Order: sequence, then structure tokens, then C-alpha cells
Amino acid sequence: MNELHPGLVVADLEIGPVAHGGHFVARHEGRVIFVRHALTGEVVDARITSVNRRFARADAVAVHRASPHRVTPPCPIATQCGGCDFQHVEPAHTRELKRQVVAELLGHLAGYEFAGDVEEVPPAPLGWRRRMRYHLDADGHPGLRAHRSDEVVPLPADGCRIADPAIAAPPTDPGRPGGEVLGVAAASGAGFLLPGAGGIVTEEVGEQSYLVAADGFWQAHAGAPEVLVQRVLAGLVPRSGETALDLYCGVGLFAGALAARGVRVWGVEGDRRATELAARNVLDGEFVAGDVARRLPRLPGQVDLVVLDPPRTGAGADVLAGVAARRPRAIAYVACDPAALGRDLRTAAGLGYEPSSVTAHDLFPLTHHVECVAILEAK
Ligand SMILES: C[S@@+](CC[C@H](N)C(=O)[O-])C[C@H]1O[C@@H](n2cnc3c(N)ncnc32)[C@H](O)[C@@H]1O
Repeated sequence: MNELHPGLVVADLEIGPVAHGGHFVARHEGRVIFVRHALTGEVVDARITSVNRRFARADAVAVHRASPHRVTPPCPIATQCGGCDFQHVEPAHTRELKRQVVAELLGHLAGYEFAGDVEEVPPAPLGWRRRMRYHLDADGHPGLRAHRSDEVVPLPADGCRIADPAIAAPPTDPGRPGGEVLGVAAASGAGFLLPGAGGIVTEEVGEQSYLVAADGFWQAHAGAPEVLVQRVLAGLVPRSGETALDLYCGVGLFAGALAARGVRVWGVEGDRRATELAARNVLDGEFVAGDVARRLPRLPGQVDLVVLDPPRTGAGADVLAGVAARRPRAIAYVACDPAALGRDLRTAAGLGYEPSSVTAHDLFPLTHHVECVAILEAK
């Protein structure tokens, strides 16, 4: 790929299908270019941003033939900020693009035919994000990072469009150039804080309350905790007296919902502060801090139910083998990366567990990200 180099503008590029990661596939003289800010069927000029031996990446910089699904981005920094890669797409069509990606990945990686849609979850498509990490530029102006870069793109005057309005516009802080500011909108209140500042907020999900470290993990979309809990409960159908593992449990979101239905729960989580809060949130549960793969051998040898909610890398073969060895009657796998889910579904099939359903939820509107919940049962 010698003649392609960063900065080069490739003219009149015909844009093909959507790919995982918010890109669209194009071909130039037999080579693959992953193009952002484009849409299938468009003809664009694209500036190359990086090149490796197998492919190049590029950003569309001029559109000669526009897709009927193209719209004016609601945010003026949409093409520079690395946060929202689908602001130029009509919101309903962003969900269709994510459906195509989920169907392609689960079909290709796991042989699973995904026949569903990506469900819209209010609030959408703006004002949904209740946890924000802002970066301060050299003058202390708050901004967000550019795509695959440390560069800080300053926020527009009225702030980030996808953030909850209460945390959309952090103040300028000239005394801390290069620093970070977190925005937290919780049930107990909203505000800005410095990373590591400490403090605990309260979140409400149905009848349950959860203590969460102000700078710790909580589902970012305002509707996510309720939607995911409902989906996990509907898939597992827990019965009073059953036992369950909540792996990658955070502060016990799923453990709390299961315990409220009379299930005895053990949780594992890598963040020690989160396990301490989980023990306060779910009084009947038992919580262990540590790596799931290393802690699993010390958990009960047989359980009825398992919830897995791993980070983007997925659970992996060792964890899945440890789960399957406990012969649960059902597993709920909550996945923020459909590629990792596809790989893990293939591994689970080899261990005797097949998906009885997979649903997809638009918990990251106007971005390429999508959340899936798979319910697995023994073959
Ligand atoms: C997607 S979050 C889910 C948290 C929780 N289920 C919730 O919904 O609030 C994933 C969690 O896994 C934890 N984690 C990441 N890698 C881990 C590992 N190897 N072992 C244990 N926990 C891990 C993170 O600290 C994070 O809290």
C-alpha cells in the first residue's frame, strides 16, 4: 500500500457496507479502506488517516453522492470528536446499521442467525449519557478526545449533545491544563468532580437502590440498568431458592435483581471498591474482589444461573469453561462488543451451551456501539 499515506485525499471513493467499529468498507485499486463519516452507497473524497500492511483508515471529507440516510449532525464538532461516529446518520438508520453488524458478526463468528432489531431505548438520541470523562486542553477548556488521538477537541459552548444536560458543559479550569473532569448524573444528584476525588452516589433501578463510587463504573445510558435487568430476568426466569453467580458484577446490579427474587448470589468483580459497595447494596449476597478467571475455582461447584457482563474483551475460554462446569440451567451474557460475544458464543457451543435468544439494545445512540444480551441454555 505504498502510494496511500496519511494526509492523502482519495477522490470519488465508492462506499460499501458498514463494518464493526463505525467504519464503512471501500476499495481503492484492490485495497481496503475503512472510512468514517460515510454511508453505504455514497461517493466521497476521503482523507487517509493511517495505513498498515493490510488496510488503510480514512475520514470522508467531501460527499459527492449522499445517502438518503445522511443528516446534518446535531453537534458542530461531530467530525472531529472521537465520541459519536454516527451523528451524520438518521437515528433510525443507525440502529439498522448496528443490526447489520450484529447479524454479520454473530453469523460469521458463531453461526448464529440474529433475526431481531436493535431496540431504541429512551432517552434518545441525545441527552442519554450519565457518565462523562472530559479532557482539558492547554488553556483548561473542556473537550473530548479526537478519534484514536490524544488531541482534545474543545466542546461547543452549550456542551456535549449526548450527555445528560446537567453534565453537558463542565466549567473551564485554567489551573489544570491537560487534566480531566468527570461528569456524573446520578439519581442522588449531578455534578462535576476530579478523577480519584472519592465520594459515593446513589442510583435507583425499579425498587432497588445502589451505592456507586462517583468515579466508578455504572451503566452510562440512563435507561440501561432497567432495560438490562428486565432482559436478564426475562431470560433467566429465576425461581426463589435458586443459586446464581454474577460475574463482572460491578456494584451488584444483576445480583440485586436476582436476590430480590429470592436467589442466593455470589458476585465477582475486579474493582475492590465496587465489591465493598455491592456487599452493602445486596445484603444477602457474597462478593469477592479479583479476576474472574482466578476467583471462579473458589466459588460453589454447582449453580442454577449465571450472569456474565465482561468488559469489551469478552469472558474468554477459561471463564466460560469454569461457568459451563457448574452446569447452570441458564446463562445471561451481557455484551458491549458483538465481536467478543460472537467468539464467546462459539466457545460456549463447544462446551454444550447454545443461545436460546439474543437481543440487541441501542444503549449508545449516535455511536457505533451496541449492547447485546444472549441467553444460553444447555443443549
Ligand atoms: C461492563 S462492566 C459491568 C458491571 C456490572 N455488571 C454493571 O452492570 O454495573 C464490567 C465490569 O467488569 C470488571 N472487570 C473487568 N475485567 C475484570 C476481570 N478480569 N475480573 C473481574 N472483573 C473485571 C470491571 O471493573 C467492570 O466493573
